[in-house]
Amino acid sequence: MKKILFIYYTGTYNTKYLVEKLADKLKNDFKISTINVFEKEKIDYFNYDLLCISYPIYAFNAPLLLEKFLKEADIQGKNYFILKNSGEPLHFNDASSYKISKIMEKKECTLRAEYHLLMPYNIIYHHHDNMVKQMLEYNEMYLQHIASNIINNSFTAPKFLFRYRFIAYLGKLQRLGAVVNSSLYKVDDKKCVKCLKCLEICPVNCIIIKNDKITFSGNCQMCMRCSMFCPTNAINIGFLNNWKVNGNYNFQKIIRDDNLDGNYLKNSSKRFYRYYHKYYDNLDILLNKKKHF
Ligand SMILES: Cc1cc2nc3c(=O)[nH]c(=O)nc-3n(C[C@H](O)[C@H](O)[C@H](O)COP(=O)(O)O)c2cc1C
Ligand code: SF4
Ligand code: SF4
Repeated sequence: MKKILFIYYTGTYNTKYLVEKLADKLKNDFKISTINVFEKEKIDYFNYDLLCISYPIYAFNAPLLLEKFLKEADIQGKNYFILKNSGEPLHFNDASSYKISKIMEKKECTLRAEYHLLMPYNIIYHHHDNMVKQMLEYNEMYLQHIASNIINNSFTAPKFLFRYRFIAYLGKLQRLGAVVNSSLYKVDDKKCVKCLKCLEICPVNCIIIKNDKITFSGNCQMCMRCSMFCPTNAINIGFLNNWKVNGNYNFQKIIRDDNLDGNYLKNSSKRFYRYYHKYYDNLDILLNKKKHF
């Protein structure tokens, strides 16, 4: 049986959710392994026939830590595909994998395909539960399509257009901003119940207790895990505090909730939502699906 290795980065677990879903759809045809880039596990890449690199888009790019991980990884001459996700379908996100493709090119690896899925925002604003249901239902169908492509070895390599590479290049400024902004993270002592959940879940262990106070040290990746999962919304995330999304999405509950019809986008959806419309229109064509809005 051929072997696939999923290499993934996740902040608030949306990417993990997609990786697990796709892995499940492939498990009868491939032997599956997964590695989270935050875990310092030793992997013998030689054993794998195909790699999947999976990540959330950060400011039109892949997360810095994932790029670093790939640079350092002892990978050579592999085929791989990318499974990326983001909160919005804008073309600005189109060249987010360009840097990864360059890193992997140096390792004589071939990018076979890239798939971009939408998942609820973990920053900017909380997507409506019905919109989340629509996203999850589409993702289920899209992942089935992706799994069939992989099983049938049917791939189309992506192109990274110059104009979107330029946008991605500008987006890299976010990395500098992240260093400055994360030094502004603070905990509101009046709200904090000292449950220490934030310390336990920070993937880079950069939340510490100093002089009896919860403090943020360097190396924060702005993954939003601590601020999303804090039970009392006690974490202030600096300049981006107005964009904070506190309280995680309960995917299983949303899927089971019959009061949500999963048709959040309507033909009359305006402004920003027009872009989602376009994305799902294209997906309807790809999946040969009857339009449902
Ligand atoms: C620092 C940061 C920057 C982000 N930038 C973008 C972006 O440029 N475009 C976008 O569509 N979504 C953006 N998002 C949203 C995430 O890509 C999205 O919510 C993703 O599903 C989170 O995945 P995760 O839960 O695996 O971390 C950003 C999120 C964060 C935390
Ligand atoms: S998760 Fe929130 S409430 Fe719990 S210790 Fe951290 S800041 Fe305080
Ligand atoms: S401090 Fe919060 S946002 Fe920063 S890396 Fe840790 S969990 Fe993520």
